Amino acid sequence: MFTGELFPNPWVLPNEQLGPHAWVLRGCALPHVAEILVAVAAIESASPFRHMLTPGGHTMSVALTNCGALGWTSDRQGYRYSATDPLTGQAWPAMPAALLRLAREAAAQAGFGQFTPDACLINRYAPGARMSLHQDRNEQDFSAPIVSVSLGMPATFLFGGRQRSDPVSKVTLVHGDVAVWGAGDRLRFHGVAPLKDKPHPLLGSQRINLTFRKAA
Ligand code: SIN
Ligand code: FE2
Repeated sequence: MFTGELFPNPWVLPNEQLGPHAWVLRGCALPHVAEILVAVAAIESASPFRHMLTPGGHTMSVALTNCGALGWTSDRQGYRYSATDPLTGQAWPAMPAALLRLAREAAAQAGFGQFTPDACLINRYAPGARMSLHQDRNEQDFSAPIVSVSLGMPATFLFGGRQRSDPVSKVTLVHGDVAVWGAGDRLRFHGVAPLKDKPHPLLGSQRINLTFRKAA
């Protein structure tokens, strides 16, 4: 599998393997940042970022929106995918072609051909926001990988095992990095440590994460 570049950017770290089927593709999204940000602006104008409630009644520190046929949502009743945005009552914005292309390209680089995500969760982290350790298991089948794009401020990504109590590795994800995990690594616990305020030249004091999944 070829995961490098012909003319590597010396400012970008080498790709990192987190498991047999789990990779951090350094700088993989960099060539696409401008079109991703245009896409996110259009998506949030139709379906704004909002802080959802967890089933336990806590307000999530991360603000989120979605694009694609299905969007991930949370409320007192639980976590689920929904074809409509509960805030607007409308369908989620369609997944822009540029986002789909990036997700497919990253999945292929990590060894997952034919990835066709139908859901893209967009998380926005302000300083102090975090994502506690969890497994992504609201999807119908776990044969498709997860593709997770990081933009803006750096984050400490926590990548554990299949049991909550398994040891957790810490890896810094920076602007343009893409993490991909699937197959035997698909159900590994993961999360994000509370975000430090290290303003990013383009995005300021925020981090945007786009997580592509095949939900149905
Ligand atoms: C998630 O697991 O939904 C988000 C991961 C991240 O923000 O990097
Ligand atoms: Fe997740």
